[in-house]
Amino acid sequence: MRNHVKTITAIDVGTTKVFTILAQLHASGDIKVLGHSSVPCTGLRKGNVEDLATTTSAVRASVAEVQKQTGRRIHSAYIGVTGAHVTFENKKYAFNSIGASGVITGEDLRSVSQRIMASSTNGGSPKDRRVLHAIPMEYSVDGEGGLRNPVGLHGSNVEVEAHLISGGFDYIQKLIKSVEDAGVDVEALVLQPLASALSVLTPKEREDGAIIVDIGGGTTDLVGFRRGHINYTGVVPVAGFQFTNDIVQAFGTTREAAEMAKLAYGSADLSPININEEITLPLEEKFTDEETDSITIQRRDFCQLIKERSLELTYIIKDMLEESQMAGYPIVLTGGGSQLPGFQRLFEMSFAGPVRVGAPNGHAQVPGDLKKPAYATGVGIMLWAATEGTRGVALSASRKYLGSEVGLTALFTAWSRQVKRLMPWAV
Ligand SMILES: Nc1ncnc2c1ncn2[C@@H]1O[C@H](COP(=O)(O)OP(=O)(O)OP(=O)(O)O)[C@@H](O)[C@H]1O
Ligand SMILES: [Mg+2]
Repeated sequence: MRNHVKTITAIDVGTTKVFTILAQLHASGDIKVLGHSSVPCTGLRKGNVEDLATTTSAVRASVAEVQKQTGRRIHSAYIGVTGAHVTFENKKYAFNSIGASGVITGEDLRSVSQRIMASSTNGGSPKDRRVLHAIPMEYSVDGEGGLRNPVGLHGSNVEVEAHLISGGFDYIQKLIKSVEDAGVDVEALVLQPLASALSVLTPKEREDGAIIVDIGGGTTDLVGFRRGHINYTGVVPVAGFQFTNDIVQAFGTTREAAEMAKLAYGSADLSPININEEITLPLEEKFTDEETDSITIQRRDFCQLIKERSLELTYIIKDMLEESQMAGYPIVLTGGGSQLPGFQRLFEMSFAGPVRVGAPNGHAQVPGDLKKPAYATGVGIMLWAATEGTRGVALSASRKYLGSEVGLTALFTAWSRQVKRLMPWAV
């Protein structure tokens, strides 16, 4: 354990589950997953914490399970955020001090994100908003724009175009409280689809342009990448919950039975379904009488309902992407909802372009049982914490380890290597 640097905990507080993952980040840049746990949670609606006590109890249970697996105490964690309150803007900032030493240095650029966050918090952002990320996209130096990495250039008139992501203050406070009440401090907040993109998109997809569509339980989260950096964020309050709810409403069955039937028989593609196939669902108590307690329906009708909701989702996404000039890029579906049979084909037809279903499987450090779409966000939060997140703690960590043989230079080298490898758009 001599080269062990930092223990990271990531918690994805999702609409259907709380997923906790505990990992060690080594000085070499390697990440070792020590334990993970997924606990059902019903405390959120459309990505927002509604029932604080229920959410806290799921966080507590998930954290306790990981503590039990690993024999380690979890004191703090990186937490994912989503919800319809999340918005973005691409904004330009001028920094006179960049390049003040005559040449633009890596050190100048490393602080850009924090300085934008600080300036946005101090008056630049309305009081009811909280800035989650300020991600530099492009620079212009003395009027020459479109620069992705101006390190080494001479010039002092530097402008940064940044992707600024913010969320509603009250929603975020509630999320933080639900975690803190479970005895866990919040180290940093990470936009959930940004985390999913980190774990699912390949460097080539980020470079050539791609859209992540993370279909969860309560929200479908979108992020767009172009030229290696994030430049679009969107949240659609339609996801797995609505598919299940449609079944409840249409057939008068219970929520549990509707969810199980969706997983067992659901499809957005009707073509392989036999015209005679029937399914039987239990009726909700209020619809039962002495003779009837279930309903038998054609599976094609059942799937037609799912197909219509799927189409509606594609129309909303299409409108959002067209409005933001992000239409036409390949789509990568992820999140639990992306596993619905026929979804990929429906998206291919609706968007007339390449569509794939993505899971966090491009990382050697991620164990096989986590390489599933539903874990894309949780794994991504861990990767974010191991790269971007460690920048903020680099100084305290180095102080802590100064006495050991892990020196300051080794720490920074390992971290920047890791950041470059996993988040090329962030350097
Ligand atoms: N095979 C499948 N077919 C259809 N839906 C599925 C399948 N597997 C999982 N789902 C749906 O995926 C949803 C859960 O996905 P996920 O775990 O990504 O959500 P979450 O992270 O809890 O929610 P959110 O990100 O919206 O807060 C549920 O609605 C579930 O019904
Ligand atoms: Mg999710």
